[in-house]
Amino acid sequence: MERLLVYGPTRLEGKVRVSGAKNATLPIMAASLLTDEVCRIEEAPKLRDTETMARLLTELGSKVVMGDGSITIEAKDIKTLKAPYNLVKQMRASFLVLGPLFSRFGEARVSLPGGCAIGERPVNLHLEGLKKMGAEIRVEHGYVIAERKSKGENRIYLDIPTVTGTENLIMAASLIGDETVIENPAKEPEVVDLCNVLKKMGVEIEWTEPSRIVVRGKKKLSGFSHKVIPDRIEAGTFLVASAITGGEVLVENAIPDHMDAVLEKLKECGCEVENGERSIWIRGPKRPKSTSIVTSPYPGFPTDMQAQFMALLSVATGVSTIRETVFEKRFLHAAELSRMGANIKIKGDMAIVVGIDRLQGAEVTATDLRASASLVIAGLRAHGKTIIDDIYHLDRGYERLDEKLKGLGAEIERVEL
Ligand code: EPZ
Repeated sequence: MERLLVYGPTRLEGKVRVSGAKNATLPIMAASLLTDEVCRIEEAPKLRDTETMARLLTELGSKVVMGDGSITIEAKDIKTLKAPYNLVKQMRASFLVLGPLFSRFGEARVSLPGGCAIGERPVNLHLEGLKKMGAEIRVEHGYVIAERKSKGENRIYLDIPTVTGTENLIMAASLIGDETVIENPAKEPEVVDLCNVLKKMGVEIEWTEPSRIVVRGKKKLSGFSHKVIPDRIEAGTFLVASAITGGEVLVENAIPDHMDAVLEKLKECGCEVENGERSIWIRGPKRPKSTSIVTSPYPGFPTDMQAQFMALLSVATGVSTIRETVFEKRFLHAAELSRMGANIKIKGDMAIVVGIDRLQGAEVTATDLRASASLVIAGLRAHGKTIIDDIYHLDRGYERLDEKLKGLGAEIERVEL
């Protein structure tokens, strides 16, 4: 079983380049199902999750070629409309094939994704939205079966601005000639990047105030070539890693506009931050200041940065609070950080972090993707050796994180133990 050994304390220095966004690449890969023409994605990250999505598309009948940073897909000969449990179970984002398969073939059979470490993560809003688009939805033996039965009213209100729900519904509307309106959609940069791809394919998409998307689909869509936006969560992870070590780092291939909330919170913690056109420079303080964080849908503070900040705030001066409003169980990393000496109390959706001066290296276990990043970050500051178990979580969403950190001076190695 692979583990990560992190020796601390270290100070990060130098430059690091961020990869393409995982959460943009996955829906854009699914969008290739909307056409029989060739689709090409540039600057795609090489991750377990993108490999899983490639396996799923191949299983459906697509031809997928994974190059070095590029992915080419041709969904000409789709041979099945069934997305199997074993792949959907591995990666919930596989559920993103539901919308495009329904849109192109009027039918789809996709395994229910089930819950995960951070919450129950239902997909009711995806299904309610498809019903509004004329789908009859059945759930049989753990599979969602969606069949087009009528012309929908094509007006959908999302109770929660669900990210993949919005993406599934926009793709479901992409081959329908009429107009589909989605109220209260997710506005994450990754959703916008998917929309930019769909526009290249021929879909008309209009974002109107206060919070609405209008989609006018086409009967036939073309292929596309698209460079994926940088991963703002990977960029944020490097910024927090630099901050906790009092380091000085230039994060390249990062879009500051996608990260306002995170950059503000880093400044509140006493970091110096300077934005470039497509880069962010940071110098961390000797010891971070405490602050308060509330996660919320974009443009709010991203839930995917919550675990990383908990590690940073565990060594802050004073008491910090973190309120997690997006997922109901996204504090599993608190217990692992406490093994390293952190003083964190969880009360419902609130974490109270009493900053301490010194974390100690310890054996800890990653529970989910961003929790594993927070343990690496804590290990960079902790005194002694930290051994992180179950690091397959990390490889799902970060491309060579340990090597990139090593390039910044971290003492980190991957071992078989
Ligand atoms: C996306 O997940 C991201 N994944 C997640 O990133 C991210 O944490 C999340 O959005 C929130 O930003 C991808 O884009 C592949 P949601 P998603 O639907 O779409 C509830 C990472 O670390 N909900 O926006 O699954 C849900 O339970 C991952 O890269 C319903 O109740 O998240 C949650 O409480 C982790 N019914 C909230 O909405 C639904 O039908 C937000 O979930 C759908 C969602």
